[in-house]
Amino acid sequence: MSRVPFIEARGLHTYYGASHILHGIDLTVYPGETLSLLGRNGMGKTTTLRSILGLTPPSDGKVLINGKDMTGDPTHRIIRQGIAYVPENRGIFPTLSVLENLIMAERPGVSGNRDWTLERVFETFPRIDERRHHMGNQLSGGEQQMLTFGRALMTNPDLIILDEATEGLAPLIRKEIWSVIKTISETGIASIIVDKEINSLLRVAERNLIISKGRIVYQGSSEELATHPEIHKQYLGV
Ligand SMILES: Nc1ncnc2c1ncn2[C@@H]1O[C@H](COP(=O)(O)OP(=O)(O)O)[C@@H](O)[C@H]1O
Ligand SMILES: [Mg+2]
Repeated sequence: MSRVPFIEARGLHTYYGASHILHGIDLTVYPGETLSLLGRNGMGKTTTLRSILGLTPPSDGKVLINGKDMTGDPTHRIIRQGIAYVPENRGIFPTLSVLENLIMAERPGVSGNRDWTLERVFETFPRIDERRHHMGNQLSGGEQQMLTFGRALMTNPDLIILDEATEGLAPLIRKEIWSVIKTISETGIASIIVDKEINSLLRVAERNLIISKGRIVYQGSSEELATHPEIHKQYLGV
């Protein structure tokens, strides 16, 4: 492929104190691509995302965004390249209303695009439209997660990073979230998704990486992965 990757991480090594967690992670995501990052608990998925974003800076390796070397840059500068990050714990303002939470997040994309507006977010998430004047802390878990997504989209990102976005939600809400994830990926926004619901994830992902003990041990399309039950068993425990 000759396209410039949106993110190209090469040889990331990351430590927490003296613990060596990532051992040379390579991860590439192309514009518009939906990439999954799979692996059992504690294998380094969140650390990989945090390393790319500069939240836990790698001690070695490179992070290029749109071909530009941003290794060691502060997180706010990395995010401004058009990245929305939905972390494991939802980042909404509990004492602001739904509407205020969304307005706070609003900004044009890197190319100046304003594809995602309040109206479009409310259309996409009718549940939070109904609650637009409720405070963040009055929402159910599922509504909070939709508001988190809404906030991410209001930044008109080129890439959205979802770390366990369906965790702890009721099955019906999870289904809604997956359908929104599918919609988002079809609009051409790239994504990196970590989630325990592997079957739903494989359905939306175009390419999958499996991480084990801080190393990428498998890479392939969902169709390819489906033909390797032994890989599921060894690295995903299903
Ligand atoms: N803040 C931290 N301090 C020390 N060790 C951590 C910290 N966060 C995660 N770890 C360790 O790093 C490893 C990878 O964690 P993580 O990236 O969160 O895994 P995953 O997201 O795949 O579940 C685990 O062994 C975990 O215990
Ligand atoms: Mg994690």
